[in-house]
Amino acid sequence: MLITAWNRAGWIDLPRKLGDRIAPLIGAAPQAVQVGDTLSLKLYQALGAALAMTNRKVILSDQGNFPSDLYMAQGLIHTMGQGHLLRTVAPEAVEAALDETVGVLMLTQVDYRTGRRHDMARLTARAHELGIMTIWDLAHSAGAFPVHLEKAGADFAVGCSYKYLNGGPGAPAFIYIAPQHRDHAHTVLNGWLGHATPFAFSLDYTPATGGSNADRHSCGGANADFGCGP
Ligand SMILES: Cc1ncc(COP(=O)(O)O)c(C=O)c1O
Repeated sequence: MLITAWNRAGWIDLPRKLGDRIAPLIGAAPQAVQVGDTLSLKLYQALGAALAMTNRKVILSDQGNFPSDLYMAQGLIHTMGQGHLLRTVAPEAVEAALDETVGVLMLTQVDYRTGRRHDMARLTARAHELGIMTIWDLAHSAGAFPVHLEKAGADFAVGCSYKYLNGGPGAPAFIYIAPQHRDHAHTVLNGWLGHATPFAFSLDYTPATGGSNADRHSCGGANADFGCGP
């Protein structure tokens, strides 16, 4: 099938299909989880989207976080060049550090070294009382114990499939976007698979929204090589 397999064999749908299989493990509704990329990239996308939804400049995290998450935040802050600040505190001090200067709370639920687990429901609820967006990294949670993202009200979550989901080295990551944000979340990295009509190969990026990518399979009159169209 060569590249026609994108559509004939349904490769284009796999990020969603696999996301729907992960969703029940992390307390997410169908269509709220997409698979792809690495975890660091998914975190970058989630953080970029969350920062675009707040005017506040502080990202709060903790010193038990996996370093790559902090590096990604530092890189995004540098690229954005808008004076954002990454503030890290001891894991036990996170709740007390939440205040109205914080725009995004970015935490890994389970510490990769100690197994210490944050209370997701409590911290998310407290963050929301103060108008703070939340991002949870589930690398050491998904597949290890039940996670309840939607019940906790988490805004974004990310995770990998190569630990407790047993995907093996190189297996892709996933991202969760709360249903109320799905049509507003802004992608910082605009790849073709996020385009409303990827097979139209338009030169300008038009983001797909949660409900508007019914044209995903359409060739848009441009190129039938990908097996799109009737
Ligand atoms: C909590 C956490 N976040 C992020 C990462 C980085 O993942 P990746 O190498 O897929 O970017 C890891 C990797 O082990 C991790 O444990």
